[in-house]
Amino acid sequence: MESRYKRIVFLTGAGISSESGVRTFRDSQGLWEEHKVEEVASPQGFKRDPVLVWKFYSMRRIQANEVHPNKAHIALADALHNLEQSGCRTLLITQNVDTLHERAFGALPSKNFIDIHGTLSRSKCTKCQKVFSDRWCYFDGKSQPVQNHADNLWSHPGLQCLLSMPRRNAQGIPLSPCCSDLLRPDIVWFGEKPHGVEHAIEQLTTCDLFVSIGTSGNVYPAAGFATVARKAGAHTASINLEPTENSSAFHERIQGVASEKVPEFLKKIWQ
Ligand code: OAD
Repeated sequence: MESRYKRIVFLTGAGISSESGVRTFRDSQGLWEEHKVEEVASPQGFKRDPVLVWKFYSMRRIQANEVHPNKAHIALADALHNLEQSGCRTLLITQNVDTLHERAFGALPSKNFIDIHGTLSRSKCTKCQKVFSDRWCYFDGKSQPVQNHADNLWSHPGLQCLLSMPRRNAQGIPLSPCCSDLLRPDIVWFGEKPHGVEHAIEQLTTCDLFVSIGTSGNVYPAAGFATVARKAGAHTASINLEPTENSSAFHERIQGVASEKVPEFLKKIWQ
């Protein structure tokens, strides 16, 4: 069987993981209801209170560890594998930091995958920006610094993996093995440049199908990707529980839950 398309770009957001139990950002009960974005997701917030930031991301690492890829992640991972095998070029761009795509796929080749907002499974040195594969939780559910208790499940090829918990300062903040300066989560915070945008734009301007899944279309540059692909001649489709902010950019708007609508949609890609 052959795909009806030759180059496909998928974009995912928090909605694809909500049926796994990961909280979205803007729905009621969403993450931003409880936390001030500028306190936990900005370089200024980290400078002001790195302990608070590491408590927040330790909780998110603990939660990510407790959830599993759902039918939508698995269907997408299977489709990416089968499409590549059939000669179709694919790119998956995710805004999610929960690592569920990586876990559904096993190891996604980096040329086919961009975690545009970073990931919970990496940290970086605040001094030299060196990136480490790291899924340690430095604070527990009661906000206490933890001892070595987790194992490193996610490791990124080409990255030094923090196999044992790095040294920490008196407050419990991990220190980088390279510079002994503070480590921070490798998450793209507000005001920072998203990862891989140039590669994404290159693929968006040459794809013939663009599919957006579970994202409200509020945060740029990702919210503008459908328009870029559409202007370049691609068919654009959105799968989301409710109408999105950027719905006029889509030829096809499918409303419903990702675990049902994603597998249904992916079946139609084949001739
Ligand atoms: P949002 O929380 O803004 O949007 C999630 C969307 O998923 C909503 O439109 C929901 O209706 C939809 N949704 C919820 N459950 C669904 C389901 N089961 N199936 C399908 N759709 C469902 O999350 P994002 O658009 O991903 O950035 O947010 C984008 C960025 O904003 C995030 O990456 C984060 C945040 O600020 C950074 O942290 C840099």
